Amino acid sequence: MAKQSLQSTDKALKTKENTNIDSPDLSNNKNLEILKTRFPVGKLDDLAKEHNTDKSSEHHDYTRLYEFMLAPLRYETFTLLELGVGIPSKEAPSLRVWRDYFPNAQIVGVDIRKISKNFEGDRIAIEIGDASDPKFLTAVYEKYKPHVVIDDASHFWSHQIIGLRTLLPLLPPGGIYFIEDLQTSFWENSEYSDAPEDCVSFMLRLMEDVMGNHKGRNISSEEEFNLTSYIDNFFVTRKLIGLNKRSTPHPRAQRAARKLNKSNEA
Ligand SMILES: C[S@@+](CC[C@H](N)C(=O)[O-])C[C@H]1O[C@@H](n2cnc3c(N)ncnc32)[C@H](O)[C@@H]1O
Repeated sequence: MAKQSLQSTDKALKTKENTNIDSPDLSNNKNLEILKTRFPVGKLDDLAKEHNTDKSSEHHDYTRLYEFMLAPLRYETFTLLELGVGIPSKEAPSLRVWRDYFPNAQIVGVDIRKISKNFEGDRIAIEIGDASDPKFLTAVYEKYKPHVVIDDASHFWSHQIIGLRTLLPLLPPGGIYFIEDLQTSFWENSEYSDAPEDCVSFMLRLMEDVMGNHKGRNISSEEEFNLTSYIDNFFVTRKLIGLNKRSTPHPRAQRAARKLNKSNEA
């Protein structure tokens, strides 16, 4: 990270609003409450309610995990990409939440509906296309180089998996990837069950490989091995998962790659 970015992270950490990442003052009852909950309802949730997105504590209750994982980026200059802009009558509420919570970030929304283009504005860009098309996703990545990706598009099994498979390898070190509405993984025989494997089952296989240090019993390909090599950790809550990307592939994966290179050279 550039020196300037680090300085602004430092500034963010010292900002009063970020009570959830500041050292709590134990003499203050409010902070004791924060300690008890650990994933507090904070500024991000206020904005989610103000802009009327279903990510707020009044609906899906996603903002607590988002704020927990994203608060350190609050004053950074970076790009956040959200797949799925929302129904036109609601005027892209989540993109406006991200814009207001991250005053220095570029926000990019992707939607299949052309009308979503209407919601472009100050620090908000919209790209129209199909989030289940790896070529389109790659082009969007190349254009904006996001640091954070949120998948809130169709919630179809295949789309959620394609999004992760395509974008996680492209994200920079420290990149963060979220998938919302994972409950659709449990809706078999629905319009969402459009693939042989649901997204939760897929994520569980990846988790097993990470927890077993590349000894996952069900990792089925080199591509999946490469994918898990870059996963640092997972945060899971109801219907939502967030994962952090490692700065470098896990050492075991690096050894495997060296072995592969040697055998290719021989
Ligand atoms: C749940 S809404 C997004 C809500 C918004 N992110 C929010 O929190 O306010 C889902 C959006 O995904 C879009 N969508 C559905 N299938 C898609 C696809 N294959 N590619 C891109 N967008 C898609 C829909 O048009 C809809 O606007």
